[in-house]
Amino acid sequence: MSIDYCNFSRGRNAILMALAITASATAVAQDPPATCGPMVGHATETSAIIWMYAPKDSTVEIAVEEDFNSGKALVYAFDSVAEPAGDLRGVPYTVTLSKLKPLTNYKYRVIINGKSDAAHGGTFRTAPSAGQASKFRLAVTSCMKFGQPQKSWELLLGDKPDLHVTLGDTQYSDTTNPTIQWKHHLRYRSVPEFSAVLRSTPNYAMWDDHDYGPNNSDGSAAGKENSLAGWNQFWGNPASGTVGTPGAFFKFSWGDVEFFMVDGRYHRSPDNAPDDDKKRMLGDAQFNWLINGLKNSKAKFKVIASGSTLADSKNDGWRIYTFARHRLFDAIGKNKISGVVYLSGDIHRSRVWTHPESDRVGYPFIEVISSGVANSKTLSYATVDFDTTKSDPSIQVRIIHGDGEAHADKTWKLSDLTHKE
Ligand SMILES: [Fe+2]
Repeated sequence: MSIDYCNFSRGRNAILMALAITASATAVAQDPPATCGPMVGHATETSAIIWMYAPKDSTVEIAVEEDFNSGKALVYAFDSVAEPAGDLRGVPYTVTLSKLKPLTNYKYRVIINGKSDAAHGGTFRTAPSAGQASKFRLAVTSCMKFGQPQKSWELLLGDKPDLHVTLGDTQYSDTTNPTIQWKHHLRYRSVPEFSAVLRSTPNYAMWDDHDYGPNNSDGSAAGKENSLAGWNQFWGNPASGTVGTPGAFFKFSWGDVEFFMVDGRYHRSPDNAPDDDKKRMLGDAQFNWLINGLKNSKAKFKVIASGSTLADSKNDGWRIYTFARHRLFDAIGKNKISGVVYLSGDIHRSRVWTHPESDRVGYPFIEVISSGVANSKTLSYATVDFDTTKSDPSIQVRIIHGDGEAHADKTWKLSDLTHKE
């Protein structure tokens, strides 16, 4: 059976849904769609990365204009990636739009070989100026799947997030082979509800085990270099690793909030290694990068984001990396780094809670777990509303289920997340 990925049913018809589920496993193995995207990646106050997948040797362009100021479209040309990590008929193309205005809505349309298609259009809003106090909404997701209702993406889009952070299991190919990974990415990105989010919100991604390699995989995964190359070519993240240290990790700012997207796979000791002082979650170089970044950050809130939970997974998270966990908590505490919040995914349910070892940190250490946006009973996701314009800045965390109900709604002030002298 063949399925036209990009005309995939919205899934409201039970018969079509059953057909889709039956066909999904084979569909991934078949030829992927000729085109997929566009997707908005990293955005700053003056720039935005746009990603598109299209046939090799295409001419790919984009016409961009302010949303409410029609008639002044600028056209930019995409570049195809120089050395595609995956071997498909199409390749990823990216372009960095420049000279944009802060906090401005833009609309765009991608043009492939001179042809403009409404399905290749989208919108986005640029970031506030770096360091500027602002109010904005972050959406957090992880764990996607074909054949389950995708309604939560529509709910998420209805929440009008300023940016979207996704924390892994963005596909479940369970391999380090980029060609197979890309087929899975393309299949899932053709889900209309997910595609709508990718087209209309700046997206930032960190992998977890299933989109990095096999289930619960770690730094020993064979072929991880290929996986990293394929990952970077399929997202619009601002960076990947550092000059001396490979990995998918990077940081970025949104106004005066800084995000540290940490890679809990590439340098990870095996889950079943003895839980002693040799066991690492991030590896020493990435850990030092993180702590130095936190120490030097001028941001009001510093957000650490990773696929791995602090305590909820008994066999694949920080819970069984005691030395690494305590080293992280103690570094925040000893350096008196205020306003640190942790985001994670992985466990196919969502919650927000305070870690019982917060004494090491020096203030309530909040973990927002958002998992199973399309791969769980609850189909949940999280939003975090930042408001740094107030004298005491705040974050409001909500957990939204697929029924549209908010199952958590909690607010913390920066003064709550600050060391008391
Ligand atoms: Fe998952």
